[in-house]
Amino acid sequence: MNNYGIDIWGDDNFIIEDGVVKVNHTTKPSLIDIVSSLRDDGLTGPLLLRFSHITQKQISKLYDTFNNAILEYNYPSSFYAVFPLKVNQLPNYILPMVQNSTKLNYGLEAGSKAELLLAMTYNNINAPITVNGFKDKEMITLGFIAKDQGYNITLTIEGLNELQTIIEVHNELKLPPPNIGLRVKLHSSGSGTWAKSGGIDSKFGLSSIEILDVLDMLKQYNLVQYLKMIHFHIGSSMSTISPLKKALKESGHIYAQLKKMGAFGLDSINIGGGLGIEYSSHEKNLHYSLKEFASDVVFTLKDIAQKNGVEEPNIFTESGRFISAPGSILIAPTLELYSSEYSELNLRLKDKNPPIIEELNSLFKDISESSAKEYMHDALEHLESILTLFDLGYVDLLDRGNAETLTHLIIKKAINLIDTKDDTELKLLDDKIQEKYLLNFSIFQSLPDFWGINQEFPIMPITHLNKKATRSANIWDITCDSDGEIPFNSKKPLYLHDVDLTKEDYFIAFFLVGAYQDILGMKHNLFSSPTQVNIICNNHGYKIENTIESQSIVEIFEDLDYDKNNLMKNLLNKTNNKLLQQLLKKFINDNSYLKTISMDSSY
Ligand SMILES: Cc1ncc(COP(=O)(O)O)c(C=O)c1O
Repeated sequence: MNNYGIDIWGDDNFIIEDGVVKVNHTTKPSLIDIVSSLRDDGLTGPLLLRFSHITQKQISKLYDTFNNAILEYNYPSSFYAVFPLKVNQLPNYILPMVQNSTKLNYGLEAGSKAELLLAMTYNNINAPITVNGFKDKEMITLGFIAKDQGYNITLTIEGLNELQTIIEVHNELKLPPPNIGLRVKLHSSGSGTWAKSGGIDSKFGLSSIEILDVLDMLKQYNLVQYLKMIHFHIGSSMSTISPLKKALKESGHIYAQLKKMGAFGLDSINIGGGLGIEYSSHEKNLHYSLKEFASDVVFTLKDIAQKNGVEEPNIFTESGRFISAPGSILIAPTLELYSSEYSELNLRLKDKNPPIIEELNSLFKDISESSAKEYMHDALEHLESILTLFDLGYVDLLDRGNAETLTHLIIKKAINLIDTKDDTELKLLDDKIQEKYLLNFSIFQSLPDFWGINQEFPIMPITHLNKKATRSANIWDITCDSDGEIPFNSKKPLYLHDVDLTKEDYFIAFFLVGAYQDILGMKHNLFSSPTQVNIICNNHGYKIENTIESQSIVEIFEDLDYDKNNLMKNLLNKTNNKLLQQLLKKFINDNSYLKTISMDSSY
């Protein structure tokens, strides 16, 4: 049976048992049980399930692996980690994460004033805050306020003007500055889609001469003690380890030289993000382990520090994707299978049909295991002929409809009869015999990285896993945009089940969606975020916490700055029928996803 690559990307977080996907934790609840209970509560649209134990597992893995490497190499300095808020700023995600990691002193990274204010509000007081990105005087002043609040905060400067502003604010407020970090423009760049965050012509960081200027300026203003950190970020989701090794050598030597030139307070290197996860359902794309990643960092920094006779730096990481991607799953109900309209009941054969239709009808009746492939080829060819004849005016719309229906029926029967596993010829036909699955979700809202940069996400049904999936699947979302589609890709094929939606539900899950997707998602066609819930697995089963329902249509309008009262008045005034007015009020207060259960019968 198809396991949808769960052994490649799943990291033991989920298992397939009894034909369904289960959470591999405590009592192993099944996703379908969780979804069914949420639907019983009326939450029928797409659902975003967040599993906090998976986020905690990732955080612990990060700390444990680095701390083990520190022990193994007898590294005398310490490991610190912060979560970059840009990866997921939603309160349902951030607040439990901060609360659950108090003991580890897991901190936050901010890249804007808004994110810094969040960090200053919610960060554990003993955990570090790092600040990156371009900063104005207000943002720098916020850094001084955070320091006054008692935070161990580092402002990483991206240019000399930021240092000048720090000195200005220091003089104006007459307060000691926060820790100062330097983002260095490395020669090396990353690997993978986001590689351009690093490299000599990257948007961020200081050149070698600028680094020397910073040290001179700090000496001139007697602030050298505040220079604490060297920072780099070579881009998200590195697929190979070699860019990290190069970046470590470059930054390690910059650190050592600055120390030797008098930067006596410098004691940390922040390696940014870049730690990847495996997204592929087909083959491994991530060519290193966390252990290798951590060992390389610790070993290289120790080696450089020792050779240069300086103390080893503390190590900071800002891994975001690794921490947050695995814990979130999007689950979308299937609304329709497009070939379901081609059922035998819909055939409208005439008393006398064109010969090709008669031939198709016999193929459909006589098809057997031994003839399946041949008949399917014939049917596809006959359909082409009927379509040509229709264009030329020789057959009518009813003939065309009958030919389409019969061809689909023959293909379905053939696929069920043939042992599809390893049938290379059938695979060649996959493109022609795809099934379209219409799902109640928006790719623009829930998988923006698929739309924007073709990011692969593991996709699988959460039930039916003890049955053969025979249909090459093309996934459509409900936006009216032709980009709202995950087309069948014969190099990375997705097969789904042939289901009768009038008799059973069929839910498709998209895994590893916890990093960047929630916050980059957009309201294209005015679909809002799906309903979000936090699932807490415990020894008695699971608990659903912090449900945030999908926004209502009127709330979406308000977000766009429409005047709600004016809009409602305008809309309702256009009909005098009281019942229709009531319906309008009800619909505008519903969310914008399609209803997958019958509307209530109160009208
Ligand atoms: C400065 C900085 N740190 C950390 C990260 C997080 O990277 P990742 O998601 O690869 O862990 C980013 C992402 O863009 C970043 O710009």
